[in-house]
Amino acid sequence: MKLIAGNSNRPLAEAVANYLEVPLTKAAVRRFADMEVFTEILENVRGQDVFVIQSTSYPANDNLMELLITIDALRRGSARRITAVIPYFGYARQDRKTGGRTPISAKLVANLITSAGVDRVLTMELHAGQIQGFFDIPVDNLIMGPVFVPDIEKKFAGKDIMMISPDVGGVVRARALAKRLNCGLAIIDKRREKAGVSEVMNVIGKVDGKICFLVDDIVDSGGTLCNAAVALKEKGAKEVHAYAVHGVLSGGAVARISSSQLESMVITDSIAATEAVENAAVVEQLTIAPLLGEAIRRIAEERSISALFK
Ligand code: R5P
Repeated sequence: MKLIAGNSNRPLAEAVANYLEVPLTKAAVRRFADMEVFTEILENVRGQDVFVIQSTSYPANDNLMELLITIDALRRGSARRITAVIPYFGYARQDRKTGGRTPISAKLVANLITSAGVDRVLTMELHAGQIQGFFDIPVDNLIMGPVFVPDIEKKFAGKDIMMISPDVGGVVRARALAKRLNCGLAIIDKRREKAGVSEVMNVIGKVDGKICFLVDDIVDSGGTLCNAAVALKEKGAKEVHAYAVHGVLSGGAVARISSSQLESMVITDSIAATEAVENAAVVEQLTIAPLLGEAIRRIAEERSISALFK
């Protein structure tokens, strides 16, 4: 097995390598003067089972190109099997036409990754499960339960807790956690008037006196979670915490969250932490390295991945 790290999230790749006790394969990513990406794999990969770890997070286009070019280099270097390990799959929110003459960029990105020459994809909490169907190769989509459930159990054992989906699209995700934690579920009917601005309209369910956990795949501007926290507090929630898998956290998101009604926010390291994230008292990052490492091991050994979630 060979592990190759892109530049998007070196700390996570190193943690996965430590978990698997497999050193990262030496590779160089350089830039031409006009910023074209050039990748060179500095070890023999002929006949190897290769895993390329790269989140397509900010800067999304650069990180995506780096992934595609690395895959091309591996394919031309005669790797036996190439798995793209994409902890955060960027462009996932563009998974359908939102109007006339608009793209389905998630499908385009899936096509690009497939055409580059990967044999399979390993990712985590896709924005919409159907994105797996944008690929005609196997896709393993890890879920957040094994990372978030023990943390909630450890911190809030015996408390009157409730899972909250911040929008209708996230109900399946929040319901899965509610089931594992054996607690109730409420839903926020969110309407977004224009891209990047969210507005909470209604809380469906009784949250009065509850410790509420907003569960989401992505926190970007933070608007969804902050507005949801206001709505929950107005309905009598005792405390509001958030668990979001992918901390995109663009612009002033960390400051917005720090001064919001959220008592705490937990994210994972699917995206490398910025300085703002590291310094924010209200934000905690949990690692997905053991989960990702175990999934990689199971793929390499042709063992079940779903058994990880039983
Ligand atoms: C939307 O459907 C997603 O699941 C997230 O709720 C959304 O991307 C969060 O964005 P923001 O933090 O900018 O409100």
